[in-house]
Amino acid sequence: MKESAWALAAAGGEDEERARRLAARTGAPLVAADERRFPFLLLVDGRGLELRQTAPGSPGPLYIDFTDGAMSRRLRTSGVRSPLARALGVKPNHRPAVVDATAGLGRDAFVLAHLGCSLVLLERVWPVYLLLEDALRRARDDARTREAALRIRLFHYDAARWLGRREEPVEAVYLDPMYPARAKNALSAKGMQALQRLAGDDADAPELLEAALRRCKGRVVVKRPKRAGPLGRRRPDFSIAAPKTRYDVYLAGC
Ligand SMILES: C[S@@+](CC[C@H](N)C(=O)[O-])C[C@H]1O[C@@H](n2cnc3c(N)ncnc32)[C@H](O)[C@@H]1O
Repeated sequence: MKESAWALAAAGGEDEERARRLAARTGAPLVAADERRFPFLLLVDGRGLELRQTAPGSPGPLYIDFTDGAMSRRLRTSGVRSPLARALGVKPNHRPAVVDATAGLGRDAFVLAHLGCSLVLLERVWPVYLLLEDALRRARDDARTREAALRIRLFHYDAARWLGRREEPVEAVYLDPMYPARAKNALSAKGMQALQRLAGDDADAPELLEAALRRCKGRVVVKRPKRAGPLGRRRPDFSIAAPKTRYDVYLAGC
């Protein structure tokens, strides 16, 4: 993402101090809430952070909420036998420690945390990272989501570098990189549209898969479009089909 693509703004006077701290932390410009020079504005207000697109006709703001109805439905319908859980080796008596190397909006990760997995989340795009950090803080403060949120540790980091620097092997790595096809098919969700514009196509995802395979001792799981070939043309050991997607599983003796 181009660093000039986004800026921070405060919705009201009482939000200014927090917006200033975030600007200092990220190096992003701090602008007025009605500023339109930047395609994306990360707005700080009383309920948390939201990401706005400034072009006329853009979809509404993106705000992550792990307590909302959509997430509650997702949590209710995702048990240990769900395709994602099976792909990562979740069993009734075992919950793997998972590195989610492409955290995004944190939805897959939150499902896994709800099932009892401990997670490290890695996200390299600042505004996405900050939205997620803010949502996790709120989730820890809410009795309904506290337990799951406490199982998640989030880092602003490029995952290939994080994996390369780590000395200890990891048990399971999950990758859900962006792919160009998403632009046409699966962008109905406005969250994914904004993410695509911010993060791009993750063209380096094949190298991330190689980095994961080098560092993992259990399994690496890659989420793919149903009809796409395997990431980087590397054949998985097996795949698990889901209604709208496919999980390619690499055992690799990792
Ligand atoms: C399709 S989204 C993931 C969606 C996520 N599974 C969810 O449930 O919300 C991909 C995300 O991975 C991030 N990403 C891609 N490659 C990365 C890398 N090497 N390190 C850290 N983050 C990465 C992108 O910035 C983007 O936010």
